[in-house]
Amino acid sequence: MSRPPEGAGQQLPGHPFVAYRDGSLYVEDVALDAVARAHGTPLFVYSRAAMLSALSAYQRGFAGRDAQICYAMKANSSLGVLQVFARAGCGFDIVSGGELDRVLAAGGDAGKVIFSGVGKTRAEMQQALSAGIGCFNVESEAELDVLSGVAAGMGLRAPVSIRVNPNVDPKTHPYISTGLKGNKFGVAHEEALRIYQHAASLKGLKVVGIDCHIGSQITDPTPYLDAMDRVLDLVSAIENAGITLDHIDFGGGLGINYNGDTPPEADALWLQLLAKVDARGYGSKKLMIEPGRSLVGNAGVCVTEVLYIKPGEQKNFCIIDAAMNDLPRPAMYQAFHAIVPLEPNTRAAKATYDVVGPVCESGDWIGHDRELAVAAGDKLAVLSAGAYCMSMASNYNTRGRAAELLVDGSQAHVIRQRENSQDQMRHERLVG
Ligand code: LLP
Repeated sequence: MSRPPEGAGQQLPGHPFVAYRDGSLYVEDVALDAVARAHGTPLFVYSRAAMLSALSAYQRGFAGRDAQICYAMKANSSLGVLQVFARAGCGFDIVSGGELDRVLAAGGDAGKVIFSGVGKTRAEMQQALSAGIGCFNVESEAELDVLSGVAAGMGLRAPVSIRVNPNVDPKTHPYISTGLKGNKFGVAHEEALRIYQHAASLKGLKVVGIDCHIGSQITDPTPYLDAMDRVLDLVSAIENAGITLDHIDFGGGLGINYNGDTPPEADALWLQLLAKVDARGYGSKKLMIEPGRSLVGNAGVCVTEVLYIKPGEQKNFCIIDAAMNDLPRPAMYQAFHAIVPLEPNTRAAKATYDVVGPVCESGDWIGHDRELAVAAGDKLAVLSAGAYCMSMASNYNTRGRAAELLVDGSQAHVIRQRENSQDQMRHERLVG
C-alpha cells in the first residue's frame, strides 16, 4: 500500500491520500489534471489506499476479536470498489437483490453478506437464501413471517437478526437519522423481546443475532455509546428468555470530515464500545458492523470543468459540468462538499460564487457562496465524493453517468466507463 503523500505537498483536511504537489492536485501518485484530460469530466477518482487505510482503523479496533466488517455497499456499489473490500476480507451489507448480484460479480463471499432493509421481496429472499447469505436483518414482524414461509418452502431455515430501534438521537440530518421512534426502521425496543420470541417459534427461521443502525454521518460518540447500552440491555433480556444470540451487529453510521467535522477515529470509538460489551460479559460474542461512508467517503473526489462564469447582480455563478445527477447530496440534504481548484489560477480574480450544474432546477447546486479564483476551462475537485454520490447518481436531463477511476499508487484503473446516450436508451422502445 502506498503511503499518504506526506511532506510531498499540502494535504487536504480529511483526505490523507489527496494532496497538492507543486501546485497540482494528486490522488496518491496520480495527477488529476492528467487523468481529467485523458478521461474527460465529470470524473470520479478514488484512492484504493485511502479505502484500505479507513478499513484498517476498524481492523485495529477489532484486533484479537471475533469480528466481521460488512461494508455497507449502498455508499458506493461500483464493482471495482467492492472488489477492494472483498479482497480485504470484508463482508457486505446489502439492501437489494441487485446489490447481492454485485457482491457476487465482484468476488465477494455470500456467506459474509447481511441483508438489511424494510422491504425485502419474496423473490429477493429466495435469491439470498439460494446464494447462502450469512444473515437477514429483519425489520418487522410481518417480514419474519414471510421470510419463515419462504425459507420453509425451500426446505431451509433462514438465519435472522432483528433490527432493534434503540430510540437515541444521532444528532444528524433528519433524512439520515434512523434510530428514533417515528422512523420506519427496526422494531421498537419495548417490542423486541416479544418479537424475538415470535421469531424463535417460526420453523423457517434460525435466530442468530441482533442488530441496530442509528443513522449516518454521526460525529458525536455519545449516541453510539447510548445505543450500545440499549442493545446490550436487550441482549440480556433475550438471552434470559432462552434465546441465544451468536452475534451483535452494531450497524454503520460513523461520520467523515466534510467541513471541519471531527468524528472519532473508528479504533478509538470501538475501544469505548468494546469496553461496554466486555463489561456486560458479551466480549466473546461475534461482532459485526456495517460501515459505508467512513470507508469510502473521503477516498474519492469528483473532477469537474468550469463551463461558464456568469456574474450577476445578486450572485455570481460558476457553472460546472457536474450536476445534481452526479452529486445529489447538496440538493437532497443541503450537504456541504468542499470544492478546490486542481491548479491555482493566478490570472483570475477571487470572487464569491454559487457553484452550480447544468441541470434545469434551481436545486441543482453543488456549493453556495464559495470563494474561488476561477475562469472557464479550469478544473475543480469536489471533495468527499466517494460515498453516496455515484451510487445515488441518476440520468436526469439524460445526462450519462460519469466515469470512475480507481487509483493504486501511480496507476489509474478505469472501473466504470462514461455512460453515453445509447447506454441510456438501450431498454426503451418506440411504439408501433
Ligand atoms: N447499515 C444500514 C442498515 C444502513 O441503513 C446504512 C445507511 C448503513 C449501514 C451505512 O451507514 P454509513 O456508515 O454509510 O453512515 N444518502 C445519505 C446516507 C444514507 C444512509 C443510509 N443508510 C447521504 O448521502 O448522506
